[in-house]
Amino acid sequence: MLLLSGPNLDLLGQREPEIYGTATLEDHRRAAAEVAAEAGYDLQHLQSNREGVLVEAIHAARATVAGIVINPGALTHYAWSLHDALAAFAGPVIELHLSNPAAREAWRHHSVISPVADAVIAGLGGDGYPLAVHALIQLVRASGR
Ligand code: DQA
Repeated sequence: MLLLSGPNLDLLGQREPEIYGTATLEDHRRAAAEVAAEAGYDLQHLQSNREGVLVEAIHAARATVAGIVINPGALTHYAWSLHDALAAFAGPVIELHLSNPAAREAWRHHSVISPVADAVIAGLGGDGYPLAVHALIQLVRASGR
């Protein structure tokens, strides 16, 4: 399984803690990886501030990864190349956000990722990470991969 983290998520813990909390991305990755490991899955993680790096990671995942959890950061709202890369990925995809973008500024209300996601988890802070992996495991098992 693959956890993808988009731009500025490397600053979690320091970045707008009143919105995103004080836990770091490594804290979230660890909590997510524990849930995967308990179910017998390995969870790889990649964070990048570059759209193309994330697109290439999704391409590579096509051959090797059962499912993807992605918090695309601000790319959520405009990165059609990420949309297209995920559309070409056969396994389940869960879109994850710490905050609830629908309850924030108008420009965050639209996601170009949601149409190619099987589910969206948003607004639960760091709890969303283990929940997203738990949900992904259910979808991977249901898909027989
Ligand atoms: C985010 C929400 C996005 O709107 C924002 O640009 C982020 C983080 C979240 O996890 O709440 O960088 O994806």
